[in-house]
Amino acid sequence: MATFVMQSLGCEVAALNTVHFSNHTGYRQFKGTRATAQEISDLYQGLCQSNLTDFDVMLSGYAPSAAAVESVGTIGIDLQEKAEKKPGSFFWVLDPVMGDQGRLYVNDDVVPAYKKIIPFADLILPNQFEAETLSGIKITSLSTLASAITAIHRIYSVPHVIITSVQLFKLSQSGSTPPPPENFLTVIGSTTRSDGSPRLFRVDIPALDCFFSGTGDMFAALTVARLSEAVSAVNGLRTTKSWVSPDDVAATDLPLARSTVKVLSSMHSVLERTLESRNAELAVAVPALEGEASVEELEKRDYLRRTKAAEVRLVR
Ligand code: ATP
Ligand code: MG
Ligand code: NA
Ligand code: MG
Repeated sequence: MATFVMQSLGCEVAALNTVHFSNHTGYRQFKGTRATAQEISDLYQGLCQSNLTDFDVMLSGYAPSAAAVESVGTIGIDLQEKAEKKPGSFFWVLDPVMGDQGRLYVNDDVVPAYKKIIPFADLILPNQFEAETLSGIKITSLSTLASAITAIHRIYSVPHVIITSVQLFKLSQSGSTPPPPENFLTVIGSTTRSDGSPRLFRVDIPALDCFFSGTGDMFAALTVARLSEAVSAVNGLRTTKSWVSPDDVAATDLPLARSTVKVLSSMHSVLERTLESRNAELAVAVPALEGEASVEELEKRDYLRRTKAAEVRLVR
């Protein structure tokens, strides 16, 4: 997902697969293998020995074990060190993939592994549960949301954070800004000023009535591409390779916020089309066996999953 999205937007990608699966694990059934920490390190060593490590940006996502997170961390840290001679020439976007909806879907030891490497990242993209895990603060209100973000900046000295979705209407309201209606998701981003205080932005987006797998990866990949554009627009030329820094942000009115708006607009059109084609597929594939039925009815019968629809089509 991430490689395709970045390539679609013109990025040249060197992909190092941390897993090699037949499909997203969200479909419950899958086949394939997980890369070991050694395999990840070996591939990076291969790039190093051929001088293939002149990257503008690294995007790291799901890693299948604590040791694999450590290997990914070693790569990020090495690329940051290589870039130290050319300040602003490298940017690490780290998606701390650990869990969702109140539970971890990785081993417990992955959490401390992420905590160790996040201080070397430039931007992290936790969902609400991951933000709570990293900050140690349960997000129950607008003020605890702000505290969680502030804590993440402070504990990990990471300059940029985007919490990729919060259901704000579920939180108790204490701030002056009204919550969006129930069928909205909220994305909250933050960039620290030079004095360390966070500068927050918020985007409310309509939630589609469907569960999607892979949205976190797509969000991360779009963010890499759009942030790159936003920053190059600000800096005039892509070749300056100046990635966003906290002080740029103060001067240029949050490239992070501007790129996030574009990211969410792409997310929304892709997800809307995904929903439409899912509905169209169900409408054709399932009634052939089940007789006429509405999409709502089919969902009740657990035909929500694409794998089920595919099975039905094969039978027909
Ligand atoms: P994943 O579970 O794939 O790892 P994540 O939990 O890291 O994803 P989320 O915060 O769930 O990330 O979602 C990322 C983005 O996906 C959101 O900012 C939103 O744009 C989009 N998205 C996900 N689900 C929906 C939905 N039902 N309706 C509209 N947008 C959605
Ligand atoms: Mg999610
Ligand atoms: Na996320
Ligand atoms: Mg995620």
